[in-house]
Amino acid sequence: MEWALHDPDHGAYGSGRLRVGPRGDFATSPSLGPAFGELLAPQLAEWLQALGPGPLALVETGPGEGDLARQLADALAIGWPGLASRLELVLVEPNGGMAARQQHRLAGAPLPVRWCDWQELAARPLRGVMLAHEVLDALAVERVVWDGALWRQQMVALEAAGGLGLEAGEPVSEGTLAQLAGLGLTGEGNAAGRPPGWCSELHPGLGPWLGAAVAGLAEGVLLVVDYALEAGRYYSPQRSYGTLMAYRGQQASPDPLRQPGHWDLTAHLCLESLQQAAAAAGWQGLGQCRQGQALLALGLAAALYDLQQPGRGDLADRLARREALLRLVDPAGLGEFRWIALGRGTAACAQTPRFLREPVG
Ligand SMILES: C[S@@+](CC[C@H](N)C(=O)[O-])C[C@H]1O[C@@H](n2cnc3c(N)ncnc32)[C@H](O)[C@@H]1O
Repeated sequence: MEWALHDPDHGAYGSGRLRVGPRGDFATSPSLGPAFGELLAPQLAEWLQALGPGPLALVETGPGEGDLARQLADALAIGWPGLASRLELVLVEPNGGMAARQQHRLAGAPLPVRWCDWQELAARPLRGVMLAHEVLDALAVERVVWDGALWRQQMVALEAAGGLGLEAGEPVSEGTLAQLAGLGLTGEGNAAGRPPGWCSELHPGLGPWLGAAVAGLAEGVLLVVDYALEAGRYYSPQRSYGTLMAYRGQQASPDPLRQPGHWDLTAHLCLESLQQAAAAAGWQGLGQCRQGQALLALGLAAALYDLQQPGRGDLADRLARREALLRLVDPAGLGEFRWIALGRGTAACAQTPRFLREPVG
């Protein structure tokens, strides 16, 4: 997964081959238009203001096409000019191919913009807000498979005919077994009711990623937005093939080995695993909910109502904006995403996040 996504020459992101957006390989919330950033901006402004005077940063990790960063820079500069005057935009993007397009998208943005890596952030930690929008689902996962007698690692094998296949490998380590037990995947000498061949994913990359993020933020909030399931749903006996999926050209495939380097590979997050890894890394949980609920709390219904008022631009534009707003909260799609807020330091953690409070208007 690491190679297929991040190899600088052949990786889907490393080479810059993947395109995010409705006309690219897959759509994300910010790629549907400016509404997502506009609705999120008041939440960020509230967190940033709570940090008090002095220079602040909006750090976006994995910015993709740079759409969200651009939307937020525009919305904050217009709505909160005083705050924006002491705010810089810092982008963490390990893939050169993607960073090149972000530079293009952010040319002329109304905030100072710079790119940096985790080491630079750790050397000079910032105060502000960090975003991880559809990034943690791209971290390499470890797959485990129940063979009817033992839990084994699932491996990628070079087959005799020359293709790639998935095979059961070595039995998992004692540490992994303990982790599986914690997730309810072991029972009396069996896999607690799971049939032979049942497989799923663990997320060993989460701890190191959250540790790097905590080292880069001296004080503030990290907002993770991603597909995430409670452990009970993630590892239910019925979900026998985990959540690993490949995406290309708006098509989804359950085969992660299809044309490596040409498809996005993604796996859902397990909510409890994320929360445990976050606590171990030093983050304070500030709450979580589904995107549909979060965006309603941030004023999505009022934005929809506003589009119906006379004199709000031409009809085609209004219909497109309405469609985008509805897609953002669709319970069968983007509305199912989880917003998970994690804090560090006290100032921005003192009150319930705006997106968890009663809807506005
Ligand atoms: C699915 S795209 C999300 C793009 C954007 N956030 C959006 O929602 O439209 C994943 C992005 O994360 C980047 N990425 C992958 N692994 C990363 C990591 N470990 N740290 C930071 N960025 C990463 C990719 O290069 C890409 O820009």
